[in-house]
Amino acid sequence: MKVKGRNMRTIWVGEDGWSVEIIDQTALPHELIIASLENVHQAATAIKDMLVRGAPLIGVTGAYGMALAMRENASDENISAAYEILYKTRPTAVNLRWALDDMVGLLSQTPVEKREAVAYKRAGELADEDAKICETIGDYGLEIIRKIWQENGCPKVFNILTHCNAGWLATVDWGTALAPVYKAFNEGIPLHVWVDETRPRSQGASLTAWELSEHGVPHSLIVDNCGGHLMQHGMVDMCIVGTDRTSSNGDVCNKIGTYLKALAAHDNNVPFYVALPSPTIDWTIADGVKEVPIEERAEEEVTWVKGRAKDGSIQEVRICPERTKAANYGFDVTPAKYVTGLITEAGVCEASKQGLVNLFVKKRA
Ligand code: MRU
Repeated sequence: MKVKGRNMRTIWVGEDGWSVEIIDQTALPHELIIASLENVHQAATAIKDMLVRGAPLIGVTGAYGMALAMRENASDENISAAYEILYKTRPTAVNLRWALDDMVGLLSQTPVEKREAVAYKRAGELADEDAKICETIGDYGLEIIRKIWQENGCPKVFNILTHCNAGWLATVDWGTALAPVYKAFNEGIPLHVWVDETRPRSQGASLTAWELSEHGVPHSLIVDNCGGHLMQHGMVDMCIVGTDRTSSNGDVCNKIGTYLKALAAHDNNVPFYVALPSPTIDWTIADGVKEVPIEERAEEEVTWVKGRAKDGSIQEVRICPERTKAANYGFDVTPAKYVTGLITEAGVCEASKQGLVNLFVKKRA
């Protein structure tokens, strides 16, 4: 996607041919900072501290982390050590495990002297595949947006609500939930996006709003509790969100607060779609509500907020009494029954075991 008119991805290999460069997402929207990762530990820290985040991008960063590890030491022992360092960074997005398993499977069959080159090549392929997958999700999602827009009588403003950031910053390019938004905007459908702020880290305010601004898509920032009110008053035509892990029965784990939006959408007959690349499906989990591990993060993310002060400086301020404790659950699971449909690179399906099997097992066979 474009930043100040220039095409950018979220991760790439630097001009030296080996270091891995990323957009440091903790500095957005106020500063565009490129960070360089030079070893597996830096790759792990970038994931853990959320310089990179979003399920698909976490996966690709994990793959490049393996490549950086192979550059230093391509032994069998170091493949296992690098896997452990990267795997334990963030527990919920299944794309990380998927990408690391892919890398380990390939590297363990590769002679030691070729592992570095093979690892960089495969990580690059995973990055390209992710961009392609997301663009295809955009095409399928565009068809849905166009259909609902037409069914609603082609309103002059078509309102889409999204939660957290499932845009190109969460992937390598295009995004999942926002790929259809970009495609529909480019086609001329008069979109307006309600952007949930998405506390505690405010990825909606800092990342989704930034992306949409850069692309020129009309949008308004809303507090996390606003969506239900908007839906009750006919001000949301559809919701599209991303997911960090979708269980084989179609339950969808996504940023905390997604479940409440799905409940409000259900109560108000607002279509609620989830966009996902197939590596986000966890076929080993049958019940997302019971089985997906939910990340719990530091309480400071709840008790403090960061932003630009009126004097232009970036500051952090505490928003509650010194002695108040906080609980910080990062994700929740929306049961499949509240999801209108899953938008994937293989097409759109019902959020159910049958829907996913028909799309990914039977259709591909
Ligand atoms: O904690 P984050 O910022 O990694 O959470 C990201 C989300 O919840 C996204 O909505 C999700 O990864 C889908 S991204 C395509």
